[in-house]
Amino acid sequence: MNHSTLCRNSVQERLAPPWFRDSVSSRFLAQRPFVRSQYFQGRPESCTLVKYKTTSQPTSNSKQATTDRHDKELPLEASSHASTSTLSPASFQSAMASSVPSSNDSYVDLSYGRSADVSNASTAPTSVCASPGVLNVKLAQYGLTDLMLPIIRDELVSIAEAAGKMMLDADPSIDMSDTKNNSSDRVTATDKAVENMIQSRLHKAYPQYSFLGEESFQDGDRLSDRPTWVIDPIDGTLNFIHGFPNNAVSLALIVEKKPVVGVVFNPFRGDMFTAVKDQGAYLTKANGTTHRLPLRSVPAPMGSLNDCLLAIEWGNQRQGPNWDLRTSVAMQLMSSKSNGGAMVHSIRSNGSAALDFCYVAAGSIDAFWEGGVWIWDVAAGWIILEEAGGIVASANPGDWDPTLEGRLYFGVRSAKRTEQEGIVQELWQLMGDRKFDF
Ligand code: IPD
Ligand code: CA
Repeated sequence: MNHSTLCRNSVQERLAPPWFRDSVSSRFLAQRPFVRSQYFQGRPESCTLVKYKTTSQPTSNSKQATTDRHDKELPLEASSHASTSTLSPASFQSAMASSVPSSNDSYVDLSYGRSADVSNASTAPTSVCASPGVLNVKLAQYGLTDLMLPIIRDELVSIAEAAGKMMLDADPSIDMSDTKNNSSDRVTATDKAVENMIQSRLHKAYPQYSFLGEESFQDGDRLSDRPTWVIDPIDGTLNFIHGFPNNAVSLALIVEKKPVVGVVFNPFRGDMFTAVKDQGAYLTKANGTTHRLPLRSVPAPMGSLNDCLLAIEWGNQRQGPNWDLRTSVAMQLMSSKSNGGAMVHSIRSNGSAALDFCYVAAGSIDAFWEGGVWIWDVAAGWIILEEAGGIVASANPGDWDPTLEGRLYFGVRSAKRTEQEGIVQELWQLMGDRKFDF
């Protein structure tokens, strides 16, 4: 191994300062089977060194499975332990100089810089990780690393663009529009064709990952801990059929039941929302400009529901206890204070839960309360919101840690934590002891 192995591509080579490259001796590199590096863009401030120790060495087959697509140096085998140290440049240089290579180090992460450097970036970063150690321990069990997540995001962006083209080219008025559960629960030929395209591209690129998509979902399908694509080919199918330009393709990679990459693309507006775990959320607009989310770097104060613009969707169940709860809470939220209501600024029903999450991530809507939508509607939006500083509680009172598959979501935009919690508590109080049952 040599410096060209350490600095795997020309962008990184250009960004890596000589002191960083020179302090990693060829002796250090030569005795480790896998060395990865990442360079935070911006002013060098500190270095992170992560050592992974595996319980077993990668076999040539398992190594091949991972290296085919990404990186010649990454092992597929699980790492059992990791140690992380953040060092100043001087300490990093001296640690490298005196480092005694261990045969237990299956690979080593090296990085410099600080994540805060990208807060004003005009393009989504190629590789920035706030806490590479913790995330990487989890990812490594599945042959993944934080460095691969932006590569996966870029692949999802490319697939989303292809899906968007199919949506723009389609004429839903001549599509076969079938009903599913009732007349407002519909599917078009384009939904199915887009899902097929997405599934085949993902399968070709990542054959080892599981797949869960709205149109191929079978009753009883559940997430496992393994990496799983969760996708909705068109979220907002009714809007699509009616030509109302608020619908999106939603693509997420889930690991251990949590989203680590999310992409939501509305081709009719050209809005591409993306997020990578620990690397922030971004909106790239049709004019090519990229903005870190939330759009306001200092979010406005959010005192109570009375200050808020909320998103609530109506779903397709129009009777029964869930419908009664949804409509009565909506009524309470809108009603004046003198009538016992919360007097929110207003309620919006945009017709796409995925985009509702993104609008909350952007900060243009304060919160999104929803029971009854499905994992594919929210998986990508969830990480986009969290990476934008938002939180996701349950739509039902009392649960601050809802699951992706639970069908109960209450997303609140970036704000002070006490303000976010205040909004959640206020709405839960309006619900009293009533709960959705999905
Ligand atoms: C729909 C949207 C909508 C919600 C519906 C969903 P689909 O998804 O997310 O916001 O109210 O319940 O079915 O069917 O267009 O993918
Ligand atoms: Ca759909």
